Amino acid sequence: MSTDPAPILGLIEGFRRSKAMFAGVALGMFDRIERGPATSAALAADIGTQPEPLGRLLDGCVGLGLLRKCDGRYVNEPVASAYLCRDSDRTLVGYILYSNDVLFRLWAHLEDAVRDGGHRWKQTFGNDGGIFDHFFQTEGSMRAFLKGMHGFGVLSSPKVVAAFDLSPFHKLVDLGGATGHLAMAACERYPNLRAAVFDLPRVIEIAREEVQRASGISARIDLIAGEFFADELPEGDLYALGQILHDWSDQKIRPLLDKIYRRLPEGGGLLVVEKLLAEDKTGPASVLMQSLNMLLCTEGRERTLGEYRQLLEDAGFGSVQGCVTGAPFDAVLAIKGRNSAQVRQEAKHCN
Ligand SMILES: C[S@@+](CC[C@H](N)C(=O)[O-])C[C@H]1O[C@@H](n2cnc3c(N)ncnc32)[C@H](O)[C@@H]1O
Repeated sequence: MSTDPAPILGLIEGFRRSKAMFAGVALGMFDRIERGPATSAALAADIGTQPEPLGRLLDGCVGLGLLRKCDGRYVNEPVASAYLCRDSDRTLVGYILYSNDVLFRLWAHLEDAVRDGGHRWKQTFGNDGGIFDHFFQTEGSMRAFLKGMHGFGVLSSPKVVAAFDLSPFHKLVDLGGATGHLAMAACERYPNLRAAVFDLPRVIEIAREEVQRASGISARIDLIAGEFFADELPEGDLYALGQILHDWSDQKIRPLLDKIYRRLPEGGGLLVVEKLLAEDKTGPASVLMQSLNMLLCTEGRERTLGEYRQLLEDAGFGSVQGCVTGAPFDAVLAIKGRNSAQVRQEAKHCN
């Protein structure tokens, strides 16, 4: 009996599917369709493309389930209206443009990264420097990256802050908190919580724009510019590291965890927000792909709950619990305390 080639055939064309969606987003095709159904000729005139190739891209996106065609006019499917349009409050356009402009090009050098190790910024874009120098090279690239993270944050943070009962804590400090999506979700869920977003000065300006839009909770959120490796950390009884640890090596993480542990009061907590790998590292596939992504653009990698537990216990934390949220990011909570147990549970599923 011959083996079904379907998985391989699907993988051969996987990048074509991604790129078709990226191109539609980059061209503003879904935004234009959201303003009203139109034929390919009318759309081509509006967004400045050739009609025949655009017709192929439009039909391709019908095939991908992003559009439908009614009487020769194209209409966004609900999933495109929600996630592929710039003005949607659930937009993923930031991360899609970042994937199109940056990640797609870095991934072209995956073999070299595996052969030689190390990220591919210099090989791909010709520039040296720390990883965030690349993300933040221009105001536009910084905004695109942060917008991208924000889109995922809006999907994940409400589930992350619900993964554990955080009501005993009074002051959350989100280190590298970017646009403040985690702080906002936490303040929305816990009415007595105050929060601070701590990030690099240029990022704090963007966080201010987002947080000020969040009526009702913005008064409970402070915005603090700083550098978490070098500066003193603001006072809090719950720190968060959302997609920070996966950017760095164990050697670089260790002093940061030590610093947080020292700054916390007895009974204080550290919430780590990351994708969790299975303990045997055979899945989930999306987390394994993210770990390759980290190889290409950072000094870090994705880890198992066991690996996070080891790092956290080495820094003195106990009661390390993991939760697979079903959202793009999972959650790990560790407690500083003489009485905190060294729990050995696997990550529970809390979606
Ligand atoms: C991968 S993003 C994660 C953002 C956010 N926590 C989230 O989950 O969406 C990393 C964030 O850490 C910030 N960052 C990087 N290095 C930093 C440092 N040394 N001190 C403070 N923030 C830093 C970046 O500006 C960026 O906002």
